Formats: sequence, C-alpha cells, structure tokens
Amino acid sequence: MVYNAIIGLQRMLSPYGGGSSIEHRSRSSSRGETRTIRPVSRLEGDIILPGDKSISHRAIMLSSLAEGQARIGNSAPGGDCLSTVRCLTALGIRIVRTGSPEHPDFLVSGAGPDGLKEAADVLDAGNSATTVRLLSGLLVGRPFLSVITGDASLRGRPMGRLIEPLRLMGADVRGRGGDSFAPLVIKGARLHGIDFTLPVPSAQIKSAILLAGLFSRGRTIIHQPVPCRDHTERMLSSMGANLEMQGNSISLMPLGQPLVPLNLRVPGDISAAAYFLVAGAIHPNARMVMRDCGVNPTRTGIIDVLVAMGARLRIENQRLEAGEPLADIVVECSQLRGIEVGGDIVPRLIDEIPVLAVAGCVARGKTVIRDAAELRVKESDRIATVAGELSRLGARIEPLPDGMVIYGGDILEGAEVDSCSDHRLAMSLAIAGLVARGETTIRHAQAAQVSYPAFWRTLQQVGQDS
Ligand code: S3P
Repeated sequence: MVYNAIIGLQRMLSPYGGGSSIEHRSRSSSRGETRTIRPVSRLEGDIILPGDKSISHRAIMLSSLAEGQARIGNSAPGGDCLSTVRCLTALGIRIVRTGSPEHPDFLVSGAGPDGLKEAADVLDAGNSATTVRLLSGLLVGRPFLSVITGDASLRGRPMGRLIEPLRLMGADVRGRGGDSFAPLVIKGARLHGIDFTLPVPSAQIKSAILLAGLFSRGRTIIHQPVPCRDHTERMLSSMGANLEMQGNSISLMPLGQPLVPLNLRVPGDISAAAYFLVAGAIHPNARMVMRDCGVNPTRTGIIDVLVAMGARLRIENQRLEAGEPLADIVVECSQLRGIEVGGDIVPRLIDEIPVLAVAGCVARGKTVIRDAAELRVKESDRIATVAGELSRLGARIEPLPDGMVIYGGDILEGAEVDSCSDHRLAMSLAIAGLVARGETTIRHAQAAQVSYPAFWRTLQQVGQDS
C-alpha cells in the first residue's frame, strides 16, 4: 500500500531557492519509507549535531549504578539509546526525559551498585548491539535472571565474542545457536576478575568486561592489540572508579564505593558529523560548521583520513568536557584524491567507512580499505551492502574479504537504492545522492532513526538551490 506521497515538497518549502533539495517521501510495505535526494548547488550552514551515541549509552548505564540523580544533557536522541533507556527502566531504574526531541536530557535516578531489579519480561535491545553487549556485562553479576533479545539484525550479530570472556569471569550466559547469537539468557553469578587480551578491537566487548569487572572479586585486566574507543574508561574514571591505563592495557578494581553521579552535556556525535564532513569535502560549493563535536582521539580517524585525501577541514575551539574533548569543525569544498586505509586507524573510523566509501567514489584515483573485516558483522554486512548499493549509482567498487577497492573519479548517476535497514548506509547513500546526476531514491530510509532522527531535516536545511 502506498499512501501520502508528498510530491514536490522541496518546491513548497523553498520557492526562492534556499534550504531545499531533498525530499519526497512515501511508505509502502516493500519499500518502507523512501527519501529522494537531488543535487543542490550549495551546502552551507551551522550544524548542531545529535549527542554522541556511544557516550550516551554509557552515561545512562553507569548512572543507573551511581548513588543519586544524574543529568545527561544532549543525549543521543535515536532509537538505539532509547533501547538502553527502555531496558534500564524495565530493570527498575527511574529515568525522566526532558529537553527537546532532538536534544533530550535524561535524568537518571541512580539506584546504587545493588539497585537493579529482575525485569518482569524479556529485555528488548532493538537494533542496538551496544545495548545488548554492555548490558550483558552489567547483568552477569546481578543475583537474578535476565533474557535479552533484539531485532532480526541484532539477533544475527556475533555474541560468542561476548559470552567467552564473560564466562571466563564466572558468568552463566547462554545464547542461541550454540552460544553464538541473541537472545541471551543470563543467570546472575559470582564473578572474578580476569587478565584478557581482546581478540578483536571491540569497544563493546571491552566495556562489557569492564562493567562485569566492577562486580567481580579481584582485578580485571584487559589488553587491546589495537586501541578502540575509550569512553567507558574515561567515564568510569570521572565517576570515581579505580581504573588505570598503561599503554594499551586497562586495569580495573571492583567497586569499593558507589560511583559519583554524572552531570554532563554529551558532545556532538562525530559519527553523525561524518556525513556532513564528507558532503562538504566532495561537493563543489560547500562550507559547513559542525558545532561542539566530540573529537576523542579514538574516534577521529575520519578526520585524519579526509585530511590525508586533501579535504579542507579546520578544527577550532578545542576544549574538554567531563573528560571528553570536543571542538567545532569547519569543512569546505575540496579536491579529494584516493588513499589507502588500513591497520590501527580502522577501529578509529569503523562506523564511518560507509560514508568514506562515498568520498572514495568522488576522489581522483583508487581508494583501498583493508583490515576492516568487522564491517561484515555490523547492522548489515557493510562490505557487501556498501559495494552493492553504491554500484547501483555507477560506482566501481571491488569488495575484498576485509574491505574494498574503490575506483574513484566517475560521476555517479542517480538511481533507486536500498538502506538494507542499516542506518549508516541510508545516510551514506543520501550523501552520494547529493553529488549524483539526477534523482537518488533511498528505500527503507527510516533506518536512520536509530542514530540520527534529524538527519533528513538537517540535510534539507544545509542544501541551497539557486
Ligand atoms: C561501539 C563500538 C563499535 C561501533 C559501534 C559502537 C560502542 O562496535 O561499531 O557502533 O559504542 O562501543 P564494536 O565494539 O563491535 O567494534
């Protein structure tokens, strides 16, 4: 069934040319919500980003363990963090939402280290792997039963890598498919610290172990072969946990005293900024400023790579808030050239590879992405889906087992593409549509809701037509 196609919305919104470009949507059962993108003559404006998703999940979870009320300002507004809120509420934590829909504040009444209560039903993490993995770490040491599930995509994502270290700590966790997938069944157990080397550079697994370590006997030590995002470590330290970093290793002692409640304003999400950084860099006529963007060095791989490709980016106003660095980032139109991306930088930009591939399509020469096999187990198999959907726009991309080769420099041609129900693919395809000839229609565009509900409106606002 198709209903309510808002034909010509762009013209209605902008009879004189400003703030137009995008839109025109419909919903049908087979195509979901569709968004049609048309090229614009200029991209310009100040962008207020949604709060960082990774930091928001952690702030909400750790605040539930603290004693007293926490205020988490500018929290991530998307469905993923709402999944975390929903699960913690089901575990007996009182969370009040205030602020605006796009920049919510959460007031979390921390119940102390022993405050979580058995949920009456299965916990639903929706599309959010961060929720299921971090929450598992939190729950394995609690004296009750928990069952955690999620949507079809999440139920297909690997959980063996989570179950294994938690079991080494004494946890009683089972998973579907021979302990490989969610739903997970967790029976609270007495835990002990471990000395563990992460087999994959996963911040979700590292964080799950640290959360379990808070309630374990003895010290927990984690070694990271390659450093990955360190928001959990920074936040635990700022809340008074006994945590030390030495090189790439982390050492954590169990909670001796309750965590101190947080009062923070979450920095803008650099993973959301990435769409506009690439858009500004590949568009022939662009200048945009991203305000208050998180620039934690474990997340800024996208900036380093874009600069190496020749992008004109400027970082201004650097400062620190609640242990996390933030800054304003200015991007202007540039001439990009292809580059090789691989090795230690990959965990610092893993979520940005879909949009980086769009930059590679426009750049002169070849862009090679390697050492990124993790892309295969994200919200979609992002090597297959990025290569497949960008190819529909005429891009020449050769998938590799652990990355892709992109032959850049061709002009993309608008076409109908599909988000494959992956938020990062939906938004990356929209950026490709901005520089493609003609119209690009994205099926299942509603996928963007889990991380960046205001994405389409922001894109519309910065697009200028003359
Ligand atoms: C995240 C860690 C990364 C990232 C994900 C968010 C986090 O996943 O891809 O979007 O908040 O810890 P992995 O830990 O699986 O690498």
